[in-house]
Amino acid sequence: MDNETSSAKNIITVKVPGTSANCGSGFDCLGLAATIYNEFKFTFLEEKRLTISAVGEGADTIPNDEKNIVWQSARLVLERAGAAEKFQGAEISMNNRVPMSRGLGSSAAAIVAGLIGANAAVDNHFTRNDILKFATEIEGHPDNVAPAIFGGFTVSVVDKNLVHTYSFLPKIKLKLIVAVPDFPLSTKLARQVLPKTVPLKDAIFNVSRASMLVAALIEGKEKLLSIAFDDALHQPYRTKLVPGMEEVFTAAKKAGALGVVLSGAGPSLIAFSAANRRLENDIAAEMVHTFKKFDVQSTALILDLDTRGASLN
Ligand code: HSE
Repeated sequence: MDNETSSAKNIITVKVPGTSANCGSGFDCLGLAATIYNEFKFTFLEEKRLTISAVGEGADTIPNDEKNIVWQSARLVLERAGAAEKFQGAEISMNNRVPMSRGLGSSAAAIVAGLIGANAAVDNHFTRNDILKFATEIEGHPDNVAPAIFGGFTVSVVDKNLVHTYSFLPKIKLKLIVAVPDFPLSTKLARQVLPKTVPLKDAIFNVSRASMLVAALIEGKEKLLSIAFDDALHQPYRTKLVPGMEEVFTAAKKAGALGVVLSGAGPSLIAFSAANRRLENDIAAEMVHTFKKFDVQSTALILDLDTRGASLN
C-alpha cells in the first residue's frame, strides 16, 4: 500500500447538523436539528503536532491551536479512552456552514464533531449516550448538543449528573424558515437579561405550552401548534437585544407561519410552517423585509428538520 492510500484510510469524516435550542416554550430543554451541516475531517497522529484549518462561516476567527474547541473535545475522548499517548496530535480541517454566534448551535457542532471523530479513532469505545454526557459537560447544557447528536426534536432533562434525552420526529412535516441577522449575540449577554425568578403564571404558561408542543408534534396536530410555541420565560426579556423581533414574529404569522421563536439565545428567529402549504418563501421574504424596517440586514435559510443527527462517513 503506498503512503497516500494508507494515510487516506486514516481520515475520519464527521458531519454535524446545526441546531436550535428552546423552540419557544421549551426554554433550556427542547431542541431541534436542521438540515445545515458543518463537516470535519480528522487524522489522528502519534506525533504531538496539531494542524487545524477552516473554511466557511467564521473561518478567520477559529483558533488553530490547543484552544480549538474541536481539538479540546477530541482530547477529552482520547484521554477518557486511555488513548491520549497513542494519539498526541491531529490534522483537523472543517467546512463550516452553520452561522456563528447566531443561536444556531455552531459551538455544539464543533464539540460533537471532536467527540465523535475521536471516538471513531478509538473504535467507538463510547456510546452515543456517553458522547451526550461529555458534550453536556463541555457545553454546560444539553439543549444544542442533544439534537446535534441524535437529530430530530429532542427533549432533554438534566438530573444531577445524568442527562436524559428523548429524540423524536414529528408526524407533521415542517419547514423551518430561519432569519439570520447580520450581528452576533453572545449567549452570556442573552442570559444576563433574564430575571432570577419568574411569576408562577409565567411558569404555567410555558409548562402547558411546551407539553402541548411535544404532544402536538408527535400526534401531528397542526392546529394545536399555533399556540404551543409561545413563551413567557425568556423571549419577552430578550426582545430588546434583537431589534424588530416582535414585528418579525407578527409578520411571519401573518404570512402563515404556525409559530415563530427566537433560536436559542438569538439573534436568529425561526418560523415553522407546514411543508404542504408551501408558504416558506413568502414567510422568509416577510421576515427579511420586516427586519429591514428596523435596520437589521438578515439572510433567510429555508431548512428541513434533520432526522439523523451527527454522522460518520
Ligand atoms: N437555552 C439556552 C438559552 C440556549 O436560551 O440561553 C443557549 O444556546
